[in-house]
Amino acid sequence: MTRYSLYLGDCLSWMEKREAQSITSIVTDPPYGLKEYTAAEKEKLRNGHGGVWRIPPSFDGCKRQPLPRFTVLTDAERQRLRSFFSQFAQRAIRVLVPGGHLFIATNPLLSHLVYLPLMEAGFEKRGEVIRLVKTLRGGDRPKNAHSEFAHVTVMPRSGWEPWGVFRKPCEGRVQDNLRKWKSGGLRRISSDKPFEDVIRSAPTRAAERAIAPHPSLKPQAFMRQLVRASLPLGVGTVLDPFMGGGSTIAAALAVGYESIGIESDPVFYRMAERAIPKLAEFGSEDKPSVTASVRRAPRDERIFSLQF
Ligand SMILES: C[S@@+](CC[C@H](N)C(=O)[O-])C[C@H]1O[C@@H](n2cnc3c(N)ncnc32)[C@H](O)[C@@H]1O
Repeated sequence: MTRYSLYLGDCLSWMEKREAQSITSIVTDPPYGLKEYTAAEKEKLRNGHGGVWRIPPSFDGCKRQPLPRFTVLTDAERQRLRSFFSQFAQRAIRVLVPGGHLFIATNPLLSHLVYLPLMEAGFEKRGEVIRLVKTLRGGDRPKNAHSEFAHVTVMPRSGWEPWGVFRKPCEGRVQDNLRKWKSGGLRRISSDKPFEDVIRSAPTRAAERAIAPHPSLKPQAFMRQLVRASLPLGVGTVLDPFMGGGSTIAAALAVGYESIGIESDPVFYRMAERAIPKLAEFGSEDKPSVTASVRRAPRDERIFSLQF
């Protein structure tokens, strides 16, 4: 029986109240532009026009998903971003056990604003996972001067997504930390294959997006690899403080890890609640029997136990 708990609310307050050293890993994809998930921008997204959400140009006649434009951040917004990540980092390092890993999605334009506050809070940078994925970011000719500058691209067309890999310092040697806290390293793919930092990944499949139509839904095939690696002994609790449509929690369920998801938006929260069991089943060879049992929980929390 694999258990997961979902909370509707602000993750910063939740982490503040959470017992120290009670989370084994954090795998998350935060609102790194901050702006895109404000009430005003979400309203524009849901109305289908305006704001930072833009539909990338279509070259093949296919309907595109809206993407947030991060280049439009002002200096003041960048400062707010740093200060948000500083608050996040201080809470994250407190709730993690020694040696606990944090995998955090960013993008090539803003990763420095996310990484620095994490290091200032005491995290060790352990590397970066490169998710190789075709994106529709960049690659455009100068606006309104396409034919004049037909051979110019303003920014590189982006073909990767960085995920920062951080660790709370271990207590003593890695082996001691592994024995005491079940953390400090990353789970190997197999006995002769370590976890690697370049992962080929397709964009999230339409079938997954139909289950959880969140604008930033990450694919199960990729998330399961990260989540699996985050608990070196396969024991402990994975936290996603910015759960969105629930892809991290579904991945944890699929690999048999206990997890906790937090989401502040009620629409996305309900979407995740419904989607997690279905996403966890997605693409799995042996059809798991998913029987959800929901325990009584405080008003803002729902605890699910699923039999896989
Ligand atoms: C980039 S999305 C995560 C998408 C997710 N990885 C998925 O695959 O669906 C970030 C999410 O964080 C939520 N969020 C923003 N601020 C939050 C906060 N303070 N506490 C909890 N959730 C928050 C947003 O509503 C949004 O759904």
